[in-house]
Parts: sequence; C-alpha cells; structure tokens
Amino acid sequence: MNILLIGSGGREHALARSLSASALCSKLLIAPGNPGTAQHGTNVVLDVTDHRAVIDFCRVMKVDFVVVGPEAPLVAGLVDDLTAAGIKAFGPSKAAAQLEGSKAFTKDLCAEFGIPTAAYRRFTDAESAKTYLRSYGVPIVVKADGLAAGKGVVVAASFEEAEEAIDMMIGGGLGAAGAEVVIEAFLEGEEASFFALCDGTHAIPFGTAQDHKRVFDGDKGPNTGGMGAYSPAAVLTPELQARAMREIIEPTLAGMRARGTPYTGILYAGLMLTKDGPQLIEYNARLGDPETQALLPRLRSDLVTALLAACDGALNGVSLQWSDEAALTVVMAAQGYPGAVEKGSQIRGIGEAERPDDVIVFHAGTKQDGDRILANGGRVLNVTALGPTISDAQAKAYEAVSRIDWPEGFCRRDIGWRAVEREQA
Ligand code: AMP
Ligand code: GLY
Repeated sequence: MNILLIGSGGREHALARSLSASALCSKLLIAPGNPGTAQHGTNVVLDVTDHRAVIDFCRVMKVDFVVVGPEAPLVAGLVDDLTAAGIKAFGPSKAAAQLEGSKAFTKDLCAEFGIPTAAYRRFTDAESAKTYLRSYGVPIVVKADGLAAGKGVVVAASFEEAEEAIDMMIGGGLGAAGAEVVIEAFLEGEEASFFALCDGTHAIPFGTAQDHKRVFDGDKGPNTGGMGAYSPAAVLTPELQARAMREIIEPTLAGMRARGTPYTGILYAGLMLTKDGPQLIEYNARLGDPETQALLPRLRSDLVTALLAACDGALNGVSLQWSDEAALTVVMAAQGYPGAVEKGSQIRGIGEAERPDDVIVFHAGTKQDGDRILANGGRVLNVTALGPTISDAQAKAYEAVSRIDWPEGFCRRDIGWRAVEREQA
C-alpha cells in the first residue's frame, strides 16, 4: 500500500524507517519530512493545515493510509477529515485528541472515571486562582489548559513563582492556550513514559521509555522538547505496567467511548510513579519525540500491521514482539537551544557514526544542501544505539556522538543516568 507520513522531526525519521521496512508498504511519502526520512521514501511539499489539499493529494497519489506524527494536525482534526473522505488515517479524532489538547478536559475525565492523577482546580480568573493558591500552599503546579509548546507548565516552589505563572498565562503570555489554567497538587516520584496502542475499545502496551526534559546534565536548566531517551524504562516494572493499563489506560478508553469520542491511536501517558502507585501527569495523543527514536528500533513486529489493526478496531488479542535489547538516544542540539539558535552550520561524520550495525543517526532538524548536511533547527540529530543493557547502549551512543564532527552542536552527557545507576547498583 501507499503510505503518507505527516511530520518532519526525529520521531518521523524513526517512523519512516519502520513503516518502510514493512512488507505492506509499497511506497512511502513524507510531508514535509527531512533528509533522514528521504532515505526511506519520498519527501513531498504539502500544506498539512489545508485538509482539502491533503485529501486531494491522497486521491491523486493513491495513498491508502495516512500516519500522523505530531499533535497539531490531530488537534486540528486532520484524521476526522481524511476519514470522512474515505481515506484511512492513524491517530485520534479532533475530539479524542483533546486528551493532549486540553489539560482541563483530561483532568475532568480523570475525575469522572476515577483515574489516579494530582488533585486539581480550573480557573479563568487570576484573582480566584491566587486565592485558591494561598489556601492550598506550595509547592504547586500551574498549567495552561491548551498546547503551549512545552512552556505551559510551571512547577512553583513559592507563592511568588506561582502567582507570576498565573498572571503570565491568564494575562495572555501563551495566547489562547493560557486563557484557562489548571492548578494541581505537586506529585513526588520518578517520571516515566508509558505508551499504549488503542483501537477505540482495546488497548495494548506499546513500550516504555524515560525522557530527559531539562537541557543540562543532572536535569538542570530550562525545559526542552527532550534531550534524550531510553527504552525500556525498567522503573516501570511489569507490575506497574499492568497497573497503568488497568487503572489509567483502560478507564480512559472506556470513558472516551462512553462520551461518544472513542480513542484510536497512540496514547502516551506521562506517569509519576508515586509511593501510592502510578499517577497520570499528562496525556499526549501521539508518540513521543525523542522516545520514539529509542522505542521503534526495538519493535520486532510489523508496524504497519499494528497501526492498521488499531484503525480497524482489531487489536483484541494482538500482542507485539519487542527486542530484548535496550536502546538509548542522545539528542544533539544546536548551541543556544532551547533559546534562539543559528541555522546553517555543517555537520560531518554521520556516516562514520552509523558504521556499527546497532547505531542509527536520526535526523530531526537538518537540511540537505547538495552533498552537505546542515543544521536547521534546535534539536538537530538523534543518535540511537542498541545494546544488551542501557549502560552498554549508552556507551555505544556516546562513542557514535564522538564521531560526529559538528562544533556548533552540543548534547547532554548523562542520558540514561537513572537506568545506569540502577543497573550498576
Ligand atoms: P507536562 O507538560 O504536563 O508533562 O508537565 C511538564 C513537566 O512538569 C512534567 O514532565 C513534570 O516533570 C512536571 N509536572 C507536571 N505536573 C506535575 C505534578 N502534578 N507534580 C510534579 N511535577 C509535575
Ligand atoms: N518527549 C516529550 C514529548 O514528546 O512530548
């Protein structure tokens, strides 16, 4: 079948690699893609915010299946419009993608269906929010309701910090995304990502990972889109995964069905592993980036078959095969990230880095310029290595990083530290 993949980051390079490896995939098109996805298919120019144009493109190019990588097209209802036009598309509907698009929506669903999450209140008025804050105490977490590109969450240690966040968000600092805020209790524990593949009724586990959101070693500095990841996350023991399925994912699916908006696609649960068990921090309606770059190289089952089964409501009884190996991904970013970065510096040595069989260099923010690869964004390359343990994958990934010649880039040097500490304990 002909497949159209939407997106342009490292996650999409990893998706393109796994989709194109499927016997079911005869042609892969990627809109807009990047120099990495071009190794696995054909990049195409297409305005994905123009749903009519995407539908017309699918008809002309005889696209049988569309896979959506990032959240924005999901929240904008691309899957609804494709489905209505008779084109099979993977990902949640606009209504179901509210699990990522609106924190207030998700918190209300949790409250209604008894899903463990931090206690919360919703506010559209700064004064009421502050009065509540004073009565509650600190630490406390202030969140913008809508999508805010990673800037919508403030974990406040003091009243001043929390009040500043409320004023910034309700005052319009994040645009419409902050018009409503959710104020919630601070949860203590270790964070981990749990992925489930959902067909509207059934969910099956789709692996675990741990991300590293802060820009500097030791989890210091500002939040980023993610500086590295590894999979599996041993902290999510089989028992905790079973609890997450039973207490969080399955009631969410049942709740979404009961509301008439069944959830189909990847449900990415950001979990806090507290002393009382896993609690939901947030949902994403898609695969994580960079988690996917550590997750998909471990998938042994056919990705296209699995995604089609989810679209067809046919996941009951399906189980996926995963490699026993661990994978670890180091994000190489342009100096200055997550602030302003300069584009256009040349990257050399990707081929040398990829020479061992178990190393893959995924492109995230790069640009092809003749024979040269240039940096073209904040997060630029994702270096993934596989190995028998996380420690081994980590050593191999950093060895590969050392072969990449890009003075204008940097990376964290401690990706996987929690898992390495655990393995060496
Ligand atoms: P989110 O965008 O909801 O994932 O939040 C970003 C980050 O803020 C999370 O990865 C956590 O590190 C932190 N965070 C969010 N909510 C809470 C909470 N209730 N308690 C403690 N930390 C939180
Ligand atoms: N790595 C975090 C995310 O994809 O949201």
